[in-house]
Amino acid sequence: MDRRQFLTSSAALAAGAALPRAVFAEAQAQFPKDFLWGMATAAYQVEGAWKEDGKGESIWDRWTHTVGKIRGAGTGDVACDHYHLYPQDIALLKQLNQKSYRFSVSWARIQPTGRGAVNQKGIDHYKRVMDVLQEASIRPFCTLYHWDLPQGLEDLGGWPNRDLAGYFAEYAGILAKHLGDRIQVWAPFNMPWTFTNLGYGVGALPPARSNYADFLKAAHTVNLAQGEAFRAIKAASSVATVGSAYGMCPAYPKTNSEADKAATARYHAMNNLFFLETAMHGRYPKAFVGETPYATMGFRAGDEKIMQVPLDWVGFHYYTRRFVSAAEPSRGAAGGGLATETLDTGLAGNDLTQFAAEMPTQGPITDGGLEIWPSSIYDLVMQISHEYNFPTIEITESGCGYLDGPYAADGGRIPDQRRIDFFRSELAELARAIQDGAKVRAFHAWSALDNFEWNDGYTQRYGLTYVDYRDQKRTVKDSGRWYGEVAAAGRV
Ligand code: FCB
Repeated sequence: MDRRQFLTSSAALAAGAALPRAVFAEAQAQFPKDFLWGMATAAYQVEGAWKEDGKGESIWDRWTHTVGKIRGAGTGDVACDHYHLYPQDIALLKQLNQKSYRFSVSWARIQPTGRGAVNQKGIDHYKRVMDVLQEASIRPFCTLYHWDLPQGLEDLGGWPNRDLAGYFAEYAGILAKHLGDRIQVWAPFNMPWTFTNLGYGVGALPPARSNYADFLKAAHTVNLAQGEAFRAIKAASSVATVGSAYGMCPAYPKTNSEADKAATARYHAMNNLFFLETAMHGRYPKAFVGETPYATMGFRAGDEKIMQVPLDWVGFHYYTRRFVSAAEPSRGAAGGGLATETLDTGLAGNDLTQFAAEMPTQGPITDGGLEIWPSSIYDLVMQISHEYNFPTIEITESGCGYLDGPYAADGGRIPDQRRIDFFRSELAELARAIQDGAKVRAFHAWSALDNFEWNDGYTQRYGLTYVDYRDQKRTVKDSGRWYGEVAAAGRV
């Protein structure tokens, strides 16, 4: 059996069945010459070193240290030890021809309780990381907040407390002041709808409150914080550009009924636009059946001006899609998928939004539990392009969870053909959007490394590089090699 035949047969074995042709079309695509190929990680998922160099406790430290919350009792205490191993991880990115690295800063390393004095050791750490990236000619893309709120701020009430907008702006200003010479690309929040809704409205993520009013308040604070951070970053660094890292899910009406179409529009407004429309136009999109509940949200006169900031570019993730239907008040509904994405509908909130979103199963399902539907990235990118006058777009995350491990009989290589199929088909759809006029300048594969997958702990593997958590050994998967070649050639 030659290498090619082996690859094909091992993929078929792994997949258990042939992958549907309609989903994985033989794809070929050319990308613009200066396209930025990248990979992404997030502080809590990879860094480890959870109490080193003066770092404070975050809500994720508290949550994972609570028995019964995480599959396999995983914690981010050590994770991929990226806090110490970043030089070798960045060397790997370079070896794979990457041009952009999206990472996040741990707020509790910079301000251990979320406010007050700066922890210089935290700043120095990220300075060193930036220096190594610069040396490797890799563009740093900095996310300020990827869910790891300092516990000290949760103790003050967390995101529903409007004061957090000011604390966040202070933190953003500190980062831009100390790292603004090294970083030009900033995104305040990763998936704001997810962490406000699942953290405060539904209770699936820390701090695990299930109170829809708290979600509404948290979301409004985050919108204010986004605007304030935008201004703080720009004030501290003249070269800074500020965008976003929203978690978007293209939505399709389940039936042709007017009611389902209207529900789909509400879902789109809530899941995809709730933090974008506010920035771009200083107003909330129409996510509710009736009036926007301004009073419950704690909206004050003049807030529209605080929220409105012309993002320099729009960043969003794409993983999977949703079918949406109109729901009776309080019916509630769940879509399958990532632990972090399971519930799309706030329970009591359903009285206000009245949509039910489900994940279709027409395409193959990954080990991570998400349906693969490559053409939806085309739909999403075109929809956002049309709705926001063709902004510059960065795909901030996309990827798939598959559990393929080292194959001893073949030198320990990791044959993850299904991940290659996923990226190949998806990138072809992305290239088609670019041909049709979308201004997409970057794509970040999730993830550079297998890592701590939130409530799923270490039971999911999204990496293009395999991590053996027993000795922190990294092994580039077949998909990583393949993606490295795509990055070098600029085509699929
Ligand atoms: C996204 C998150 C990221 C990771 C991937 C699999 O929703 O932003 O941290 O968990 O899903």
